Amino acid sequence: MTSTLNITINGAPHEIALDDPRATLLDVLRERLGLTGTKKGCDRGQCGACTVLIDGRRMNACLALALSHDWAEVTTIEGLAEGDTLHPVQQAFIAHDGFQCGYCTPGQIMSAVGLIAEGEAGLDPERVREGMSGNICRCAAYAGITDAVLEATR
Ligand code: FES
Repeated sequence: MTSTLNITINGAPHEIALDDPRATLLDVLRERLGLTGTKKGCDRGQCGACTVLIDGRRMNACLALALSHDWAEVTTIEGLAEGDTLHPVQQAFIAHDGFQCGYCTPGQIMSAVGLIAEGEAGLDPERVREGMSGNICRCAAYAGITDAVLEATR
């Protein structure tokens, strides 16, 4: 049976027919909408590469059944910049070399945006490391990532 998913992605409404009710939000983003900035690493909630914001809260898109988020508002890495102006968190990652190969970077940045939006006043390095612990970087660029998130909170 085909179901219809109504969802807003980066400000644009979409009506998507889904044949498989088990389709994840990650697969809808990448395979149906071509939004491949959201990465598939482990596909089982362990790496954070697929982090997006759903109604403003960060979530692993590989664990989110798409149909469970009917009428939700989703922000992906493609929706952060405004025209040619990068989001402050994106700018901070560049300024602090918060990446190496870059594969985990979209998820790291979306997680950082979500962490900051959670309103943790006065984030310190330990809190940033704890708050970002769901995002794995196999290149171990953690020092730059932590510095970038700290700068973006200022
Ligand atoms: Fe979703 Fe790894 S791909 S957590």
